[in-house]
Amino acid sequence: MEIYVYGTGCGAGELIDAALPAERVTAFVDREPRPARFLGRPVIAPEELPGRQLDLLIVASRDAARIAEELDGLGIPPEKRFFLKNHLEPRDRNCRWELAAEVLGEDYVNRIRGSERLIRVPLWTERERVAGPESDNDYVRLKTLEAVCRRLGEIPGAAAELGVYRGAFARWINLLLPERKLILFDTFAGFDPAESAGEGPGFLAAHRNTGAERVLAALPHPERALLRPGLFPESARGLEGERFCLVSLDADLEESTLQGLRWFWPRLQPGGVLLLHDWDNPGLPGVKRALARFEKELGRRLPAVPLCDVCGTLALAK
Ligand SMILES: C[S@@+](CC[C@H](N)C(=O)[O-])C[C@H]1O[C@@H](n2cnc3c(N)ncnc32)[C@H](O)[C@@H]1O
Repeated sequence: MEIYVYGTGCGAGELIDAALPAERVTAFVDREPRPARFLGRPVIAPEELPGRQLDLLIVASRDAARIAEELDGLGIPPEKRFFLKNHLEPRDRNCRWELAAEVLGEDYVNRIRGSERLIRVPLWTERERVAGPESDNDYVRLKTLEAVCRRLGEIPGAAAELGVYRGAFARWINLLLPERKLILFDTFAGFDPAESAGEGPGFLAAHRNTGAERVLAALPHPERALLRPGLFPESARGLEGERFCLVSLDADLEESTLQGLRWFWPRLQPGGVLLLHDWDNPGLPGVKRALARFEKELGRRLPAVPLCDVCGTLALAK
């Protein structure tokens, strides 16, 4: 079988180490500048491919779109190509999965097939995965939470969420920080009617459709949780002495978000993180306004990193 590998960089090196001994490669293919040989095999220009016998061209470069166009121009048909960096764009460029498995082995090809999505699973989560891309509709939000929790280490303090609804996100906090107290603030019966007067009926009805029991049932370690039902910040009365290493602020509306910032920020430990959900959500503009008002009160911008998650979370670090 005449196998060619496009690329003489890290991708090609990785392929040779993991799945394809260099002796099985007829030649590597690369643009200028290219070495004369790579791993003992000749390196040819793409223009030298037409006219050669070729069973499979493995593209080990991330430059898939450009290379695909180049191969079209050279008359190398799609069924002779196999792209290793298939997960960096939304479309599946590969139509010869079986042939690739024959050449490279099932395991290796399954790894490529498994990462056939826009977002790459970080190497560290391949070994210790709490949540995979399929486990939630917001991979970035969840994976950021996972990474933040891994870094909290010895920072003292409880975790908290203001705006819990049915406990979907609180569940992950509880799972990732099983040793920490988790304080959950919500009415568990929807928004403050006065504050949410202008919101749509569907939004309001959906958020009434929950309850403290339901939230507790969603938690893997409910014994670590303290539910504070009622309107925040009144519901925080008596907890002024608490300190926090992690806060999820997800109250959707401006005044409640501002109250949350005022109450939690001074109680966040150095090194602690506050995840301000919906900060860049055009559907909930009050969240951004609340932070701007809070920063004005403080007289400075807070150190923050915007996330590219679904609802535009802002991660604020103390
Ligand atoms: C979008 S939901 C929270 C979703 C949840 N964090 C999740 O990721 O699944 C917003 C919640 O904030 C709560 N909320 C907003 N303002 C509040 C306040 N001032 N006091 C108590 N709860 C409040 C509402 O009751 C609602 O359940």
